[in-house]
Amino acid sequence: MEKDDKTTKSYKPIRLWAYAIGIICIWTLFIVVSWVWLTQVIRSGTIETARIEARTAFRSDVIYRRWNASHGGVYAPVTLETPPNAYLATRHREIQTPDGITLTKINPAYMTRQAHEIAAKTHGHKGHITSLNPIRARNAPDPWETHALILFEKGETEVSSLEIINKINHLRLMRPLITEKGCLACHADQGYKIGDIRGGISISIPMAPHVTIEKANIITLSLIYVFLWIIGVSGTLLGMFFLNRQIQRRHHVEEQLLQHQKMEGVMEMAGAVCHELNQPLQMILGNSEIMLLDLEPDHPLSERIRRIQEQVKRMSRTTRNLIKITRYETKQFPQGTVIDIDMASKIGKPPK
Ligand code: HEC
Repeated sequence: MEKDDKTTKSYKPIRLWAYAIGIICIWTLFIVVSWVWLTQVIRSGTIETARIEARTAFRSDVIYRRWNASHGGVYAPVTLETPPNAYLATRHREIQTPDGITLTKINPAYMTRQAHEIAAKTHGHKGHITSLNPIRARNAPDPWETHALILFEKGETEVSSLEIINKINHLRLMRPLITEKGCLACHADQGYKIGDIRGGISISIPMAPHVTIEKANIITLSLIYVFLWIIGVSGTLLGMFFLNRQIQRRHHVEEQLLQHQKMEGVMEMAGAVCHELNQPLQMILGNSEIMLLDLEPDHPLSERIRRIQEQVKRMSRTTRNLIKITRYETKQFPQGTVIDIDMASKIGKPPK
């Protein structure tokens, strides 16, 4: 009985806690892996939004340039900021209005350069129109743009990457400018045909505003994940605690049942033995009674027979009590614990 107690009480809870730790480890791993995965998704989303912003800027450049080219260039008054374009070799580059204002022809690239200056001042977008074969030396590509232009010649339609410009993180995106019908008026001399890659525009978007949004998203995600982790861990611990209590209770009940069954077996056995003993005891008692009647009252053996009778009565009392045993009462003896038949047979009396 004692050996059983030791094994059941120490070994089951340990296995339960091992399960709990296992579940918590798997949960933590799941949380960490999905957090890393989702932050990765958020990060690539940030880059993608910056790309979309750059593409939008590029597309609007292409549209107003196409408008300009469709007119073969447009006229604007000559000012300090808008001097005549020395690279534009055309008749009627400057014209005079009847009231004496000088107008100069603005070709698409010139217009683009001025628009990029405005964009740089207002949005911090840096735009650059360039070509591997530039008419204007300052339109020459930097190494990154050269690389992109070479890729366009090979069929690439867009090049983008994260670059550090003036110590600030930027997304750089470049797309090609394709020669259209309107472009030939000025670029046919260089040998360009419709569909040729005339050059490209690179747009650099500062990442800071996008990163601010990204950080806020990652903080929110992290808080949700910490919350989920805590719920998972406390749920597991709580579950294990209740499960453990349940198992302990069940075990206790099983233990009692087992004890009861064992006792029942012993009692049945005892009952059978008592039943068997009762008859011989009655025989002894009856015969001794007859012997007493046969003897003279003051015969020296009478006293001895009476003593035998006393002992036999004591024995039959014991066997009768044994049959009545319903509870498990024990008495301490030098040899160990023994059932106290007298106590155990007293029905209805609560155990000490
Ligand atoms: C009215 C004349 C004119 C038209 C039309 C014109 N361009 Fe240009 N383009 C120029 C001149 C002049 C330059 C060089 C100086 C500058 O930057 O303004 C230039 C420059 C460029 C550049 C920059 C690289 C370089 O050579 O310096 C690209 C790219 C370009 N043009 C593409 C086009 C495309 C594409 C079209 C058609 C949609 C077009 N151009 C229409 C006159 C023109």
